[in-house]
Amino acid sequence: MPVSLDLALEEACNRIIDTSTLVRVVLSGRRRNMQTEHERIDIRPVEIKGVVVLQLTYSDGRATTTKNINADFPQVMELLLSGYANFTVENTQESMALRITKSGDAQVKYEKTALEQNLAHDKKKERLLDPSDPFLIEVGICDHKGQVKPSKADKYKQVEEFLRLLVPALNSAIEAGQISQPTKEKPLSIVDLGCGHAYLTFAAHQYLKSIGIPVKVIGIDVRPQSRDRNNAIAIKLGIDTSISFKAEEIATTTAEVADIAIALHACDTATDDAIAWAVNGGSKLLLIAPCCHHDIQKQMQNSPEPWGAITKFGVMKERMGDLLTDSLRAQILRILGYRVEIIEFIGGEHTPRNIMIRAIKTGAQPDQLDIDRYSEITTQWGVVPALSKKIPTFTIG
Ligand SMILES: C[S@@+](CC[C@H](N)C(=O)[O-])C[C@H]1O[C@@H](n2cnc3c(N)ncnc32)[C@H](O)[C@@H]1O
Repeated sequence: MPVSLDLALEEACNRIIDTSTLVRVVLSGRRRNMQTEHERIDIRPVEIKGVVVLQLTYSDGRATTTKNINADFPQVMELLLSGYANFTVENTQESMALRITKSGDAQVKYEKTALEQNLAHDKKKERLLDPSDPFLIEVGICDHKGQVKPSKADKYKQVEEFLRLLVPALNSAIEAGQISQPTKEKPLSIVDLGCGHAYLTFAAHQYLKSIGIPVKVIGIDVRPQSRDRNNAIAIKLGIDTSISFKAEEIATTTAEVADIAIALHACDTATDDAIAWAVNGGSKLLLIAPCCHHDIQKQMQNSPEPWGAITKFGVMKERMGDLLTDSLRAQILRILGYRVEIIEFIGGEHTPRNIMIRAIKTGAQPDQLDIDRYSEITTQWGVVPALSKKIPTFTIG
């Protein structure tokens, strides 16, 4: 219901500073014409030396930071006025969802809850995937005793960290109305492009279902053996009505457009095919962890000066090629109306391919600066990114 914004913010603030009942707060989304320092802030009350304070958690994509503030009205109100558009404030009895619309109005919803407070300071990072879950055993990440196989420990970690980034991005997209609330009749659709052994594909399906999100997942891989193996696992697990696999090239896949496109280490320009498929079909959220980058590297014949100081070393040229490739991918997405972040989704010790491009379609008009930057970089380096040729609506040459 529409209410006065001032009153709604005051109420949210009062609920947050009432640490006797507060359970959790999430600030996300951006108000019109405002920037926020972080994409999202999670807040919970924690008890330190007998005093309950508010613990703020936010990420810059590389590291997660926590900071404690006192639960006092002016400090919390300052936070609420710092540009966020969506606020979820949960206490032990009720959840308040406040959304500030584009026109600056407040929309408030309440829902009865029965939540418990957890004021413990050292909250261990919970595992999202239980190693004894039958799907992890079937896909080969865990052994029959329900333990992660040493040879698959990195993949297990990659998949978990991928999901840690998927879920808040999905929640923000739902809160901002970019993706509609999934229902049994209209489940969330996800396509995993270049799914291989489908560790991530099954994990996304099982995890989202476990947190109550109806979901339909499709995995695409060019190899028929992958399709047959993965479909057999889906049948064995009794989940083949909501997860299935196709043996197709990403570029020509017959998979229907999905709300979310994911790709974990699709080789070289298969990553571009994945991004292009998602953009051309109108997917709202993309989480793409690229693999090797050969396309731009092959085109870097004459580095513009003074960059020759870097590219004269083979290893540096390769890294420069990686950076250019992913920066230009991000730039193209930005120009096409996506909000884009490039983040490290996992520590480099688990995979050197640890960059993720996370993009959400906002439909915002591109900044001229982004267009100019794209044109200047590609002209200076004399490169044409593969992605630019795969999206007909991208017309900047
Ligand atoms: C490095 S594996 C990653 C597999 C999986 N995503 C994972 O992280 O475990 C890349 C997969 O992409 C598939 N692939 C590569 N190019 C493809 C294309 N153009 N179309 C469909 N699948 C492709 C390969 O067959 C391979 O299974």
